[in-house]
Amino acid sequence: MLAKVTSCALVGLEGVIVEVEVDTSRGMPSLVIVGLPDAAVKESSERVRAAIKNSGLVFPGKRITVNLAPADIRKAGPAYDLPIAVGVLIASEQAWPQAVEGALFVGELSLDGSVRHVNGILPIAALAHQQSIHRIFVPAADAPEAALIDGLEVIPVEHLGQLAAHLQGLRTIPPYTPNLDPSSLPPPSYAADFAEIKGQEHVKRALEVAAAGGHNVLMVGPPGAGKTLLARSMPSILPAMTVEESLEVTKIYSIAGLLPPDTPLIRHRPFRAPHHTISHAGLVGGGHWPRPGEISLAHRGVLFLDELPEFGTRTLEGLRQPIEDHKVVISRATGTLTFPANFMFMAAMNPCPCGYYGDPTHECTCSLATISRYQKRISGPLLDRIDIHIEVPRVDYEKLTDERLGERSEVIRARVERAREIQRRRFAGTPLSCNADMGPTEVREICQLDETGRGLVRAAMQQLGMSARAFHRILKLARTIADLAGSERIETAHLAEAIQYRPRRQV
Ligand SMILES: Nc1ncnc2c1ncn2[C@@H]1O[C@H](COP(=O)(O)OP(=O)(O)OP(=O)(O)O)[C@@H](O)[C@H]1O
Ligand SMILES: [Mg+2]
Repeated sequence: MLAKVTSCALVGLEGVIVEVEVDTSRGMPSLVIVGLPDAAVKESSERVRAAIKNSGLVFPGKRITVNLAPADIRKAGPAYDLPIAVGVLIASEQAWPQAVEGALFVGELSLDGSVRHVNGILPIAALAHQQSIHRIFVPAADAPEAALIDGLEVIPVEHLGQLAAHLQGLRTIPPYTPNLDPSSLPPPSYAADFAEIKGQEHVKRALEVAAAGGHNVLMVGPPGAGKTLLARSMPSILPAMTVEESLEVTKIYSIAGLLPPDTPLIRHRPFRAPHHTISHAGLVGGGHWPRPGEISLAHRGVLFLDELPEFGTRTLEGLRQPIEDHKVVISRATGTLTFPANFMFMAAMNPCPCGYYGDPTHECTCSLATISRYQKRISGPLLDRIDIHIEVPRVDYEKLTDERLGERSEVIRARVERAREIQRRRFAGTPLSCNADMGPTEVREICQLDETGRGLVRAAMQQLGMSARAFHRILKLARTIADLAGSERIETAHLAEAIQYRPRRQV
């Protein structure tokens, strides 16, 4: 007898429907899986056999062939255990085919029949909804994640025996109902608050501008000046995510298997700070079965690279294309995959190997050649993509011991939110979400300058030798500064502030 059960494969971030066909025929008892399965899927046969037996059901002593269609998509991971087991139960008349019509199944089986967590439930549930499948059977642990998709009946399965009883109509598993009480969410907690950081007012202002428009930042300064501290406080002033953004980010974490067990939906912008020993694939994504890299895990949030020159040149150059395109394309023999990677790029570095070049009180021991070599580890094209270059000098004793607290992050965040709200209205109905996302066309339409402004930019371009990209980046930055000021027009002062964030001093 032939049974058909619907399941799902993941290609990058997108789900693709997979039909699991199970055929039983007379012959030597065996279970063979065909249809481009990987090792984990092949091992499924052993898990399915043991799980069925240990759930008090009968594993048919027949020749069983499982086909995963379409055969040209690679099937990875253990999520096909559950649909294969259901297919075997139907093919051996231990469940009725009508019971699985219009439903999708995913889940890994333990040898004792319990159903275990699988990665990527959110994109799978999204696909089901798209394909007008109204019921999805998932591991009980993953039900809250699947329930994020509206209009889907989520059946949480704990055990294969329980599922068999449900499919035989003996004991129904009630659908999962999400707990939507917002008070059940823990309030966000931040590692550091801007109020605790003494002095550095101009850096805080620059970070506020960056957060408001999603601009890239590079901080340069001597050791102990507070660069890492400032960067780590950044999440406390980032604007909240919209529901769509939350879902986008959660999909990526779901696929990477990084969703915390009790957090079905990621509500706070990610802040990723990988160590400089990270591999190229770890940063931009890749691997045999391509996984999202740090730049995709930082989607809609911040990617912070501390000690920037220590990252290998090849690793850093890998950032150039995603910073411009807001996505990364990974090529494999089987085709290309795209992961979203729209992140705010933040970096920190010392001005030279000893760290004190340009410090008024501490002599730098590096030769000019060493400094130049050090700074050249970061290529011109990468620097050109950074809108805000900011020097972080040492804070003096008086400032550091000042008991007064600075402005709290909450207050800064409120201003950032106001500026973002203006941008949200500006870009309503477009795929853009903040000023940094604008392309040349939007810049031309939205960032109009008056005569004085045009003169100022012309002079700056000549003096600083700026590229066309730098020109566009200045206009976008000026737009954000104007938004923070609640100004409809870009005034000369906004433009002047944007220009002074461009780099000027190179050895
Ligand atoms: N402006 C400041 N206000 C309060 N504390 C500060 C400030 N700057 C530095 N500190 C203190 O100094 C410590 C070191 O700062 P941080 O690690 O941020 O320096 P850094 O600029 O990243 O140095 P490095 O270049 O060596 O990485 C902080 O953990 C904090 O305790
Ligand atoms: Mg540091």
